[in-house]
Amino acid sequence: MKYSKILLILFTGLVLSLGASEAKKAIEKRIAPVGSVCVQGEDCGSTSAATTVVASSGGRNGEEVYSGACATCHNIGVAGAPKFADATSWGARPDKGIEALTASVKNGLNGMPAMGLCMDCSDDELSAAVQHMLDSI
Ligand code: HEC
Repeated sequence: MKYSKILLILFTGLVLSLGASEAKKAIEKRIAPVGSVCVQGEDCGSTSAATTVVASSGGRNGEEVYSGACATCHNIGVAGAPKFADATSWGARPDKGIEALTASVKNGLNGMPAMGLCMDCSDDELSAAVQHMLDSI
């Protein structure tokens, strides 16, 4: 009886330490890409582990800005946001033109916070994101 208790304790300890080392591996895996990040425009070689990231100051295209900042609200229409690829929800908005629409994003409009929450976006990037949305409808 005694021995089986000791065995149980040892076994539990083993399982726990294995779990901890798995967690450590998972964390190491998650932070690893920091060293293997490949900035857009650089020759990243053929390593499949290399991740392409876009420097925030560089020009992101509309799709990148959209999926990074705008999709949260515009994919499902949060707070009455006109939805991506859903012309009905856009109504007559496209008639305002790209400049006025971009200005709405920049300044914020009712439920939409200023900059559409893309705080480091340039005007061109905001405009490209709006164009990407307009292209979808
Ligand atoms: C927190 C949610 C939210 C985020 C994030 C967001 N929007 Fe919006 N957006 C809205 C809402 C809500 C409206 C509707 C505002 C209204 O007309 O009352 C809207 C409206 C718009 C319109 C129409 C503006 C007009 O003048 O009719 C455009 C274009 C737009 N968003 C683009 C973007 C872009 C581009 C981004 C990302 C850079 C973005 N939005 C991020 C919620 C959001």
